Amino acid sequence: MKVLGICGSPRKESSSTYLVEKIVKTAVENGNDGTVHHIRNLNISQCNACDYCGEGKGCKLDDAMTDIYEEIYDADVLVVGSPIYYGEVSAQTKTFIDRLYQFSMNPNRKIKDKKAIQVYTQGEAEELYTSYFDYQKNNTYELLGFEVSDIFPALGIMTKEELLEKQDILDKAVEISKSI
Ligand SMILES: Cc1cc2nc3c(=O)[nH]c(=O)nc-3n(C[C@H](O)[C@H](O)[C@H](O)COP(=O)(O)O)c2cc1C
Repeated sequence: MKVLGICGSPRKESSSTYLVEKIVKTAVENGNDGTVHHIRNLNISQCNACDYCGEGKGCKLDDAMTDIYEEIYDADVLVVGSPIYYGEVSAQTKTFIDRLYQFSMNPNRKIKDKKAIQVYTQGEAEELYTSYFDYQKNNTYELLGFEVSDIFPALGIMTKEELLEKQDILDKAVEISKSI
């Protein structure tokens, strides 16, 4: 299996990035192929809604997504991690998601037979965002054609240091990875 991780935190030392990397690294240890990209390090423009992709020719913007489109198309599992900001994904993650529009619009490049794993870290210890996670499952990943195999919210995490003290959450990342 090919596993592609996308990290949507602007932080270098990031809790959500740590979880995505843990999932992909464990998958590689178990014999899969794995790649991780950090959006904060990449040149990824916002979708400008030019509708060029509606002509079935892919995305007109030529940036880091050009290669990532191919990697997504080749991957079996997409793992997307984001911090929660004001109850939603980070702007970096949203920019990435919007750029997936060309998969929706190109009849020759439909997403099928691929899984997605949604990873989130949030400072809030309560389950405040469950409906948002489900909404994103239905209206982003499944709408694009992915089968969402896991929604993995890590609650009560403000920093990577706090995450590293929560063995149950780290164990959950390994468990999710083993099911890939
Ligand atoms: C701009 C901003 C907005 C945030 N909004 C929320 C929020 O609405 N709910 C919440 O639980 N945590 C919120 N947080 C806390 C982050 O979700 C938390 O620090 C997270 O672990 C950061 O993940 P990262 O280390 O991967 O960047 C916010 C943090 C920032 C910087």
